[in-house]
Amino acid sequence: MVKAVIFDLDGVITDTAELHYQAWKDLADSISIFFAREFNEQLKGISRMDSLNKILIQGGLADQYNEQEKIALAEKKNKEYIKLLVELTPEHIYSGIKELLDDLKENGVKIGLASASLNGPAILEHLKITEYFDTIVNPNSVKQGKPAPDIFLRAAKDLDVAPSDCIGIEDSEAGICSIKRANMFAVGVGTVEVMKQAGADLIINDTKNLNWSDLLDEYKTK
Ligand code: BG6
Ligand code: MG
Repeated sequence: MVKAVIFDLDGVITDTAELHYQAWKDLADSISIFFAREFNEQLKGISRMDSLNKILIQGGLADQYNEQEKIALAEKKNKEYIKLLVELTPEHIYSGIKELLDDLKENGVKIGLASASLNGPAILEHLKITEYFDTIVNPNSVKQGKPAPDIFLRAAKDLDVAPSDCIGIEDSEAGICSIKRANMFAVGVGTVEVMKQAGADLIINDTKNLNWSDLLDEYKTK
């Protein structure tokens, strides 16, 4: 029985994945690292510091900065990202998401947020959907980030629901792995190739095709 749906944020509820890309690109340019859009795909679901480390490694600059300097670089990126977030309004919620949240509430299904983003609460405020969420997990409160299951398991625990009674929704490979390792039904938003490889139980190419009765049917037939 589905008792909770646990959402990723960036790339599932709204298109902040693009804003992360722009802010990282800005930082990479400032330290003369080439940063391709394709490489950005590998950063989805990955924490800010882990993303920075990956960028520095691929740019061959991993040894050039000490921990303090890395923290300063991550803060610089985040400042730029926060500037971009100012433009975010409820109109930027992906289609289908608000309707799904309403249906979940109507059917008494609990709602959680399991985002790696420390900006998650602020983004939900910008989108004016904070009140839908019964829990918003602080990514700093769990031991390991995605692809480890910790953040989805914490959300289930907060909601007092068994993981097997949860559906997780993600757009990143790391996120789908995290859901599956948590023993939950995984909905992947994205292309069949990427989501299939990651192990998604149900693949949706666009959030507009997400709806409660289909989710329930798919969960039951799994
Ligand atoms: C994830 C994004 O949701 O949050 C990653 O997919 C991002 O790209 C991570 O790095 C951390 O976000 P923030 O807002 O804490 O820098
Ligand atoms: Mg995401």
